[in-house]
Amino acid sequence: MTIVVTGANRGIGYELARQYAEAGHEVIATTRGDIPPDLAETVSWQRLDVTDADAVSRLGRDLAAAEVELLICNAGIYPDKGQSLPDGYPPEMWAQVFAVNVTGVFLTVQALLPALARARDGRIAVIASMMGSSSCAAGGSYIYRASKAAAVNLSRNLARDLAPRGISVGAYHPGWVSTDMGGTAAQITPVDAAAGLIRRFRHLTLDNTGCFESFDGTTLPF
Ligand SMILES: NC(=O)c1ccc[n+]([C@@H]2O[C@H](COP(=O)([O-])OP(=O)(O)OC[C@H]3O[C@@H](n4cnc5c(N)ncnc54)[C@H](OP(=O)(O)O)[C@@H]3O)[C@@H](O)[C@H]2O)c1
Repeated sequence: MTIVVTGANRGIGYELARQYAEAGHEVIATTRGDIPPDLAETVSWQRLDVTDADAVSRLGRDLAAAEVELLICNAGIYPDKGQSLPDGYPPEMWAQVFAVNVTGVFLTVQALLPALARARDGRIAVIASMMGSSSCAAGGSYIYRASKAAAVNLSRNLARDLAPRGISVGAYHPGWVSTDMGGTAAQITPVDAAAGLIRRFRHLTLDNTGCFESFDGTTLPF
């Protein structure tokens, strides 16, 4: 199986790439900077900033002849932790977060559609977050929450439109994971998060396309 993972140089994306490569899959992983030395040989690396529309199109062109069975839109940012409601959340931060967490996902899906459509059961996994659930609105982190809610919404609508082309789409919560983003107080390791996500991706089909699930299989409320 050929799998594309964005933002795979560290954190959950790194672990997804590592585990899929170890299982013998062909992994095409993206990075904005360094290539993890331990995955330099077993994974094919592409430079990609998901906010750079030209770079995303180039990736699509590079993979034009490929069959991509699974695209994992993992790259994401969460810079508004601890912002204050009265005077925080600057507009530049809104623009930056939406460019990565929402537009970046859309552009990547758009660019890879031909390669996904060529596979027999193309699948798209959007790494969203439970914080993108509008039902579980706990307050705070307005930018990140809104961006992840938009990512979930995008997954649902893409699921509807891509089903006739045989492509299924799911939105996923990886758990609270001990990465640079999740911090040291997090509940699970990237190893366990990635293992759980990989199990969920295996179950993504046209029967449950449009799902919103946690890494442990829990169905999440929209
Ligand atoms: N950790 C958690 O508890 C948690 C919980 C819920 C959801 N998530 C989601 O899970 C995903 C991965 O998070 P993580 O915890 O692994 O975060 P992380 O450790 O901060 O890693 C984020 C990854 O995204 C990449 N990235 C950021 N901006 C990018 C851009 N413009 N273009 C391409 N790549 C970019 C980073 O690359 P650089 O190294 O170049 O910055 C890095 O590889 C994110 O979508 C996040 O929102 C995480």
